[in-house]
Amino acid sequence: MPRLQLAPSILTADFGRLTEEVQSVAPYVDWFHLDVMDGHYVPNLTFGPSTVEAVRRACDVPLHVHLMINNPKDFAAPFAAAGASRITFHPEVAGEPESVIESIVGAGCGVGFAVHPDIDLDFVSKYLSELDVVLMMTVRPGFGGQKFMNEVVPKIEAARQLVDSEGARADVEVDGGVKIDNIDLVVNAGANIVVSGSGIYDGMDAPAAARRLRSRLEQLAATVGEAS
Ligand code: DX5
Ligand code: ZN
Repeated sequence: MPRLQLAPSILTADFGRLTEEVQSVAPYVDWFHLDVMDGHYVPNLTFGPSTVEAVRRACDVPLHVHLMINNPKDFAAPFAAAGASRITFHPEVAGEPESVIESIVGAGCGVGFAVHPDIDLDFVSKYLSELDVVLMMTVRPGFGGQKFMNEVVPKIEAARQLVDSEGARADVEVDGGVKIDNIDLVVNAGANIVVSGSGIYDGMDAPAAARRLRSRLEQLAATVGEAS
């Protein structure tokens, strides 16, 4: 099992104090997860490259941009320039995902597929060798603070098996509804990167929430046989 990592989503953070919100949890996390929504792929609008730049200026933690937009190919370069280290998109929006992968890799970023809860995993294997991450959605994309979908757990296990059986380098990441009370479930199912939005930016004490999730991952590392 690759190293267990924590990735806060800033979607439910207080954007009026974004720099402070980012810097308060940066010491306890491995990535920041930045949800970009266009009001078309999902019924919500969030932010663009300038917000990614603001997070980039606030910390040196790697940034993972999760594109929930209909034209990911057009935005690979602007988000890479804004400071993204990794860019993930929903391949069902792209006629030919290969050209989107090329645009993201060509812009110097790691690349990933986001797998919608209603979409099968099968199509991933064709591209797996080119991917740095498979992002398993455990809520329907579009909003933070939704309830975790337990019915997706077998798909996380299947993604872990697919990656391990193919000897692929891709991380298996889960996104949506993950909190301290179900983080064990997703790690034991095979996820090595955990996104948490409202589980950290809960409007109370984000650094304490991040520390709790971090120390739980450290405890779990011993049980799941984390590779050093
Ligand atoms: C949902 C986003 C998630 C979300 C996670 O479409 O992709 O990243 O912000 O937030 P929580 O952990 O609150 O579900
Ligand atoms: Zn996301």
